[in-house]
Amino acid sequence: MLHTVEHPLIAEELTKLRDPECPSPEFRQRVRRIASLMVATVTANFETTVVACSTPLEITSGVKVSRGIILVPILRAGLGFLDGFLDLIPQASVAHIGLARNEKTLLAEPYYLKHPPNLEEDEIIILDPMLATGGSAIEAVRSLREAGARHIRFACLVAAPEGVSALEQAFPDLAIYAACLDRCLNSCGYILPGLGDAGDRLFGTCR
Ligand code: PRP
Ligand code: URA
Repeated sequence: MLHTVEHPLIAEELTKLRDPECPSPEFRQRVRRIASLMVATVTANFETTVVACSTPLEITSGVKVSRGIILVPILRAGLGFLDGFLDLIPQASVAHIGLARNEKTLLAEPYYLKHPPNLEEDEIIILDPMLATGGSAIEAVRSLREAGARHIRFACLVAAPEGVSALEQAFPDLAIYAACLDRCLNSCGYILPGLGDAGDRLFGTCR
């Protein structure tokens, strides 16, 4: 199910991010800020456990998040989305999944996967700024499930309706979080209005 994270600050950051004149250093900062602004919503229904807690004055009760947290950026562009999550969840482990979209077939081709062992009980958040055809997200969820993950959610910046439908069809129980649901894909599989190639814009590889 898709949850769009609506917030005036996110909407303003995204507006500036779409501008093709926004240079890489500024683009990275804005993506990081949006990611941080999304964290509270993406993690809002994490299970918590009541724990004893001391204050300087007495013993009371507090809470802790029940499960470990693993952030999984999809390389490359997911790295740009990672820092804003790590800023607010520094205790999270980070797994990496390498997927490159074949620009002709639009199929996601896996090239790397490294995750902590025994991830069955952890909360997994897959991170990728762009959900276009959904191929990369589907492959990421599939690989992590194969590795044993059971509590997976997916967070992106901009989603296309086509990608949301494909991901929902593949994994009906998956929670999908997006800062914005855009209009559609163009014939090359780019999101419209979108923000172009997120990896290239983050890492300055589109001179
Ligand atoms: C982009 C983006 C997603 C994917 C989305 O990555 O970061 O991972 O495309 O498209 P999809 O939903 O159609 O699969 P790309 O494969 O271009 O690699 P990059 O991050 O290295 O630029
Ligand atoms: N990947 C991107 O970086 N941008 C798009 O619009 C689609 C896929």
